[in-house]
Amino acid sequence: MDQYRVFGNPIKQSRSPAIHQIFAQQTQQQLNYQSEYVEVKNFEKTISDFVESGAKGANITLPFKERAMELCHQLTDRAKLAGAVNTLTFIDGQIFGDNTDGEGLVKDLLNNDINLKNSRILILGAGGAAKGVILPLLAHEPEKIVIANRTVSKAEDLITKFNNDKLSATGFNDLDEGEFTLIVNATSASLSGTFPAIPKALVANAYCYDMVYGNDLTPFLLWAKENGAKKVVDGLGMLVGQAAESFRVWRNVLPEIGPVLEKLRVGG
Ligand code: ATR
Repeated sequence: MDQYRVFGNPIKQSRSPAIHQIFAQQTQQQLNYQSEYVEVKNFEKTISDFVESGAKGANITLPFKERAMELCHQLTDRAKLAGAVNTLTFIDGQIFGDNTDGEGLVKDLLNNDINLKNSRILILGAGGAAKGVILPLLAHEPEKIVIANRTVSKAEDLITKFNNDKLSATGFNDLDEGEFTLIVNATSASLSGTFPAIPKALVANAYCYDMVYGNDLTPFLLWAKENGAKKVVDGLGMLVGQAAESFRVWRNVLPEIGPVLEKLRVGG
């Protein structure tokens, strides 16, 4: 049976094996997908052993997404621009690197009936998570994408890499009220129980998305909801969306996200 694995550290909480198992059943594909904990110093050796074992592909999660890129013989444009890979495909001993995180976000936004064409998008944060979603969002022809970051220079550096006049960079305090149809929190602030300090008026009537998810709404989404957001959505659907896109890259068939998301939400 074709072998796939997700490698990370930590990895225990990973939902990827369950998600890919459901995708395999849904699309009647024969494959085995496991998770594996990797010691930080052993990453490269672990991947080369896995390739040699005849495996077909792997997902890479924190903290190895940048190091994985160095192992690839070929990269997609979206992986190059993200500066990180989460999906490896092994063909005749060669490693092909891709990044499906941004497409995962796009798929989940569309599943939530959030229109992207001509939209005005605000991305909060300018780290790896923000960088990975810019190209897939641009592909859906928004009117503009503004990257706002606590450290403005980091947002400015980020947009120069893309060379696209729909992109601009700013700080949290220079944002105009009512300017955005969609606000995406790509900061890691939720992980420490807080959220970026943007003006309240921005979230009223806007779709608000947090790339992080948990059992409860994240601090950003809770605050956005209290302040009149049109709809709040957490990042569980992005996780399932990136998995679906990895599955498509490997198996050439796109599984359905909706039923998997339902099962994960019910399962807690
Ligand atoms: P990731 O790969 O998850 O994006 P990262 O590269 O460490 O992680 O980037 C974290 C992002 O979250 C940065 O944009 C960071 O802002 P700074 O560049 O100013 O540090 C942002 N961030 C983290 N904690 C934050 C907080 N409490 N408020 C606002 N932004 C925060």
